[in-house]
Amino acid sequence: MNYRHTFHAGNFADVAKHTALVAVLLHLRKRESAFAVIDSHAGRGVYDLRSQEALRTGEAANGVGRLAGLQDCPPALAAYLELARAPEAYPGSPLIAAKLLRPQDRLVAVEKHPEDAAALAAVLKPFRKARAESGDGYARLAALLPPPERRAAILIDPPYESAHEFSDAARALTGALRRFATGIYLIWFPIKSPAEADGFCGEVLASGARKALRLDVMRSAPRDDRLTAAGLVIVNPPFKFEEEMRAALTLALPPMGAQARFLWLAGDD
Ligand SMILES: C[S@@+](CC[C@H](N)C(=O)[O-])C[C@H]1O[C@@H](n2cnc3c(N)ncnc32)[C@H](O)[C@@H]1O
Repeated sequence: MNYRHTFHAGNFADVAKHTALVAVLLHLRKRESAFAVIDSHAGRGVYDLRSQEALRTGEAANGVGRLAGLQDCPPALAAYLELARAPEAYPGSPLIAAKLLRPQDRLVAVEKHPEDAAALAAVLKPFRKARAESGDGYARLAALLPPPERRAAILIDPPYESAHEFSDAARALTGALRRFATGIYLIWFPIKSPAEADGFCGEVLASGARKALRLDVMRSAPRDDRLTAAGLVIVNPPFKFEEEMRAALTLALPPMGAQARFLWLAGDD
C-alpha cells in the first residue's frame, strides 16, 4: 500500500474522472427519490495542491491548474470547477459526492490505508449523510449492494499497484452487477499498456454489463513509467452522458494537452 493520491490529485485523469462523477450525480439529482453513492477506493477526501508532493510531480499544475480561465462551461464541468476552485483544498471523489448529496441521499466511502482513512473520516464528519469506512472496498461492495434506494452511483477507483488489480476490479464489478444490475458504475483504470487496458475492457464486457461506455483520456502515447493515458468505464451511463462529457472535455482537455476517445463496449445511447 504505497500509493498516495496526493502526488496525482487534480491531474488530467482526475479532471475527467471527477467531471464524469459530477455528471452522474447531477443526473441522479434530477429525480426526487433518494440515491446512494458508494466509493470503494475513496482516498483521503481532500488534497492540498500546493503541498510538496503535488509540486514535485507538477501533475495538478498541468491538470486542473490550467483550467482557471474556462468560461461558458456545460453544467457538469461548471459544477466540478466550482467545487475544485481552491487549490489548497482540491476535493477527492468522496468530498465531491458528499457536497452533491441532498438530505435524502447518502454516501459510503471506503479507504484501506489507515492514515488516509482517518483523514477521510475527518473530512466527511460535517456531512450527516456521508459515512467513511476503514477497510477493503472490494469486500464492502459485496455487503453494500444492492442499496435499499435502488438508485446508486458506484465508483471503483483502485491504485493498480499490484499486477492482479485489473482482474480484482473486473471480478468486483461482475459480483456487483450480479447483486445490483441497474447501478451506474464508474471504473477507473490506467493505460500504461494498451493491450492490458483492452484486456480489462474485455473482462468488463464479460461481467454481464448490458450498457457500457469506455472513455479514454490521453496526453501522449501510453508509457510504462508514468501516467500519460487513463480510462474510465461507465456501466449504465445516464442518457446523453456521452454527449455531456464530449462537450465538457472539448473544453477541458486541450488546455491540459490531452484528448478523449469514446467507445461503446456494450449497447449505446
Ligand atoms: C486512486 S486513489 C483514490 C482516489 C479517489 N477515488 C479520488 O478520486 O479522489 C486509490 C485509493 O485506494 C486506496 N486503496 C487501496 N486498496 C484498497 C482497498 N482494497 N480498499 C479500499 N481502498 C483501497 C488507496 O490507499 C488509495 O487511497
